Amino acid sequence: MDESTLAYRRNRETGTNDHSDKDLLRFITCGSVDDGKSTLIGRLLYETQLVYEDTLEQLEADSKRFGTQGDSIDFALLVDGLSAEREQGITIDVAYRYFSTKRRMFIVADTPGHEQYTRNMVTGASTADLALILLDATKGVLTQTRRHSYIVRLLGIKRVVLVVNKFDLTDYSEEVFESIKDSYQTFAEEIGLEEVHYIPVSALLGENLVQRSERTPWYGGPSLLEYLETVEVTNESADLPFRMPVQWVNRSSSDFRGFSGSIVAGRVRPGDRVSVQPSGRGATVKRIVTADGDLPEGVSGQAVTLTFDEELDVSRGDVLAAESEPLLVTDRIQAQLVWMSENEMLPGRPYLMKLGSKTVTISFEPPRYVTNINTLEHLAARTLTLNSIGVCHIAVESPIAFDPYSVCRDTGGFIVIDRLTFETVAAGMIEFGLRRADNIHWQQFEVSNASRSQLMGHGSGVVWMTGLSGAGKSTIANLLERKLYSQGVHTYILDGDNVRHGLNKDLGFTDADRVENIRRVAEVARLMSDAGLVVVVSFISPFQAERNMARSLLPEGKFVEVYVDVPLEVAESRDPKGLYRKARAGQLPHFTGIDSRYEVPENPEVRLDTTKMDPAAAVEQLAEALASLGII
Ligand code: ADX
Repeated sequence: MDESTLAYRRNRETGTNDHSDKDLLRFITCGSVDDGKSTLIGRLLYETQLVYEDTLEQLEADSKRFGTQGDSIDFALLVDGLSAEREQGITIDVAYRYFSTKRRMFIVADTPGHEQYTRNMVTGASTADLALILLDATKGVLTQTRRHSYIVRLLGIKRVVLVVNKFDLTDYSEEVFESIKDSYQTFAEEIGLEEVHYIPVSALLGENLVQRSERTPWYGGPSLLEYLETVEVTNESADLPFRMPVQWVNRSSSDFRGFSGSIVAGRVRPGDRVSVQPSGRGATVKRIVTADGDLPEGVSGQAVTLTFDEELDVSRGDVLAAESEPLLVTDRIQAQLVWMSENEMLPGRPYLMKLGSKTVTISFEPPRYVTNINTLEHLAARTLTLNSIGVCHIAVESPIAFDPYSVCRDTGGFIVIDRLTFETVAAGMIEFGLRRADNIHWQQFEVSNASRSQLMGHGSGVVWMTGLSGAGKSTIANLLERKLYSQGVHTYILDGDNVRHGLNKDLGFTDADRVENIRRVAEVARLMSDAGLVVVVSFISPFQAERNMARSLLPEGKFVEVYVDVPLEVAESRDPKGLYRKARAGQLPHFTGIDSRYEVPENPEVRLDTTKMDPAAAVEQLAEALASLGII
């Protein structure tokens, strides 16, 4: 291990990971095996006499042992923005390799080029200072070159080196180089890449890699390594207003209470006024504590613990910010999204957003547009699918504090997580907050649900029946309503077939349409229940996420999930509407149970097996459940 590596290690151990006084360049390599990427990296590592090669797992172990972030991972130096991926236990194929020369240390994020490429690239690029985009000189600028460049730009990397590789195969032709340069330059300008450097390279033969090649006398620039060693990287984030997402509240002794995290932008000194966001309460910084003692000033890149003059209510996920230049706070945003999952985006479905150290529930509106990476055209789309890039409006369950991504990557970049599978489905970059939310307020009225219930003479709530078509939902709903009616209970049935004739007649049976179908009926059921009715919902409602969403709209104890459970064969043999027959004949696509999935409820309040009990017995069981919940 050489000096700088040791210094790096030491810094990790003590947590004094100050980027500003250490010369470290983080870059990402984009390209496929065909472009000669592995050869290039392999050769760079070899020629610089690779000090050591580490794996991410080892780093994780290191940060657990040496990190300053308690139990969570201290990735501040490496992969701060997207460390959530790892906390979620998701494997990503990004190998971080380290090498150093006398002049500088390098961390290169190497992302393999298979289908999950976009996801890996996003992960690798999120913290890089610079991107090497490789292309094969014999092939020129390809779609994937544009895709890589677009993503790199989207993720806020402004410096790119276009490595024109396999240059030996062009006989070191200046013309080829110039023509590739011309065609790339136009594209780079269109997407807003500010600084592009072009280098003709033969990774295989080592030309222009470490030493300048004698075969390209017309190329006056540096070799790739020379460029990497000398390109200026400034810690621009230090000049931004102060930002520090709180990772944990540190109560290491009874009289010590501090707030720990990494400073992601700006500087802070004792005596500075700081605002706790999103709440907006102000306080004065007392001490900046680190493992090496108190600091007179904390700067972007450092992991610190701040203490304040007064008692302050701060929790994990809050952001500490310069009081004079606070973050924006809103519950509706517009963002760029890179969709990274095989499962398409379902507008209206609740997802989790992880922004800094905060996790909140969100839902998407259908995309405003998706971008065609080749032509940069904006195209209409109903959803986002694997690898697509688009712009969406997002509703957030409670206000979040953020900066536009273009201003600060750490407070404007987020990942989106599926609530049930914990898969990371997208990476996002906030463009701006939407004002609409500011202008719509909750009106308070004096007659409450409780007073309406008093008038009705019974409680209210939602009996949510889910199950396959033909399971018996409508039959049971009908009998239940008759029974309740005869007891003087005010009811209403919301039935899939009926509601689809009116309110939801614009919806079909794709996953996205079903999500919207359930979202609307859940909102209607919520209103009706609030109005004092016992609402019986009879919808297939095949997805757990939407049933959970419906539940979350109602107060505890007012949502009764009822699984009408029959095997597919039984429902199919009943086939009351002849739909299974049509579906089997291929005349009815996306039919639930045939070619559209049904997710069995995980924890329903009631399970009714209509192969074992008749509808009357099922209704008895439901009535008992309603009585025990105090609804009737
Ligand atoms: S849901 O999946 O979106 O909850 P919903 O309960 O509204 O479905 O509507 C289901 C009813 O629509 C079924 O009872 C059936 O009569 C009819 N239907 C027509 N096409 C389909 C289909 N492809 N899949 C399921 N039900 C269908």
